[in-house]
Amino acid sequence: YRNLRIALLGAGAVGAQVAALLLEHGDELASRVGAGLELVGVAVRDLDAPRSTEIPRELLTTDARSLILGADIVIELMGGIEPAREYLMLALNSGADVITANKALLATHGPELFEEAEQVGAQLYYEAAVGGAIPIIRPLRDSLAGDRVHRILGIVNGTTNFILDRMDREGDSLEEALAAATELGYAEADPTADIEGFDAAQKAAILASLAFHTTVPLDMVHREGITAITHEQVRSAREAGFVVKLLAVCERVTDPETGVEGVSARVHPALVPQSHPLAAVHGANNAVFLEAEAAGSLMFYGAGAGGIQTASAVLGDVVSAARRHVIGGPGVAESTNADLPILPMSSVVTRY
Ligand code: NDP
Ligand code: HSE
Repeated sequence: YRNLRIALLGAGAVGAQVAALLLEHGDELASRVGAGLELVGVAVRDLDAPRSTEIPRELLTTDARSLILGADIVIELMGGIEPAREYLMLALNSGADVITANKALLATHGPELFEEAEQVGAQLYYEAAVGGAIPIIRPLRDSLAGDRVHRILGIVNGTTNFILDRMDREGDSLEEALAAATELGYAEADPTADIEGFDAAQKAAILASLAFHTTVPLDMVHREGITAITHEQVRSAREAGFVVKLLAVCERVTDPETGVEGVSARVHPALVPQSHPLAAVHGANNAVFLEAEAAGSLMFYGAGAGGIQTASAVLGDVVSAARRHVIGGPGVAESTNADLPILPMSSVVTRY
């Protein structure tokens, strides 16, 4: 048995759960990959901050760079753009495979990171970046790679779904429900990212890029959050047979004026008929409803946020990365449809 050295950057809502699962189930996972999985350190900002799981003190460090340089696999769960970007580049350049749940980073610097990974022959895994525990990245990248995806309708932000659900079913105000979502570890460090739709827009950019084999820049994703939604609107929608959901919509569209076929990605509150499967997605759950040419309609559903739930997706990436180290093999190519234009919001008409 050879030992694979794993460096964890961040021990917050998700990172602390990943550390606990690695420490608790390391031996079982090792038998699945044919190599030992050794958590060699956990980088944090504050060594004395309270943690939601018990992490041995000797594993904690504030020296992320040294930790990265000695690792085979680096897991980034700090969030934010810098220094996360710099650390992932350092990890790739030092020959490590990297795992991240950081959709903000991927939606803004994804191409740079994927290019670096390809150049150095490393792999970047990000199953946890969209949909928390739901396996959606691999199905889109691998299982559906031979099909033609037409449209994705996604509830991809757990915090806003939780808030809208509480406004609808408990009569909570947005502020009360947001405080509960933050307490439960669903919200981003800056919850504006959730309620203003930035987080969902980042996920829409990632999903659209994968589904349509292109690169959808974040600034081409139309974005509207839920801050203008009132309790009265939610109630009247229900009386009229609808549920208010923050949807990410990614689809192939043809511009009615120019006839150009392209991609549209957008995030906005939508009235979903109560009979639609997305209407039954409650709490912090997420769902991705996908329509493809051959497969027809598919729905991926489950916990979209939460420390331990998201840790499941991260651990799946750890197993994949470890297997790649043991068995070897090529990296997976990302975008190829470089000429597919990204169309603005004004070119689309949606029928749900
Ligand atoms: P938290 O804010 O709970 O935790 C962040 C952790 O990173 C903390 O332990 C913090 O250290 C550490 N950290 C931050 N900056 C640095 C730095 N410069 N150097 C070293 N350590 C640093 O974040 P979450 O666990 O909620 O989220 C982590 C990532 O996962 C984010 O990208 C998020 O978008 C994503 N994600 C989160 C989900 C969730 O449900 N929470 C679900 C899916 C994805 P310290 O504790 O000392 O302050
Ligand atoms: N803040 C995010 C959400 C975490 O609420 O969906 C999961 O990406």
